Amino acid sequence: MKHDTRSLQHHVSLPPSFIITIDGGARTGTSSTAAYLADVLSCSFLDSGAIYRCITYAVLEVNIDPSAIEEVIKIAEDCDIKFSHSPVGQHIYLNGSDVTSVIRTDRVSKIVPQIAQIPEVRERAFEIQKSVGNQLVAEGRDMGTVVFPEADIKFFLIASLDERAKRHWRYLKDQQAGNEDGLPSLDQIADDLDARDRADETRNIAPLRPAEDAFIIDTTELTVAQAVDRMIEEIKKIV
Ligand code: DC
Repeated sequence: MKHDTRSLQHHVSLPPSFIITIDGGARTGTSSTAAYLADVLSCSFLDSGAIYRCITYAVLEVNIDPSAIEEVIKIAEDCDIKFSHSPVGQHIYLNGSDVTSVIRTDRVSKIVPQIAQIPEVRERAFEIQKSVGNQLVAEGRDMGTVVFPEADIKFFLIASLDERAKRHWRYLKDQQAGNEDGLPSLDQIADDLDARDRADETRNIAPLRPAEDAFIIDTTELTVAQAVDRMIEEIKKIV
């Protein structure tokens, strides 16, 4: 999604406890909109996917086979995951080291759905997710359905596969400082995104799906600010 420079003129005063969930598939815009909305509303931001990415990264770093469930569970239990937020963005620390960038590599992205379907891993993630804050924007796959079913307002983002593939391609290009050499094709990216979403949608535990009371927002044609505008319109109706 494009970031635009228009400043959002929103004055929303939230009650002391107010939870907003934003769920959706890969590259539907959950992270960008959640970070932006949390900023506009001055509340905490939970990037739940980063927790699963940290655990996956820890597993890969010690060369454990991701299908060795008992060993993966042990690693998940030992992971100390901390978030820090600043005006320039979020940083994620795993056992004291800054892993903000390394958890976003394709190596991690490919394995994370396998790790995220282990019930004990989800329990460990659940504990971390529940301790983030009372005024909160939480984004992921199961924020509105499993982790915060009592949330005050829930959003579920969708976008066309073409657009999502383009967003990921742009992200990869940015990672290489604008250099297009060696980037996968859009078709390849679309296949990978689709495969990740299928894995998340069809798992037995906490599958990716909208909560019954979620507002569905199609972000295909929207900038981040426009999507956040839609969310704020709905939030204003209830606070
Ligand atoms: O949002 P993301 O791409 O960083 O998520 C990484 C993976 O973690 C994704 O494959 C699904 C999983 N995930 C999950 O199972 N539940 C969440 N609440 C968030 C992410």
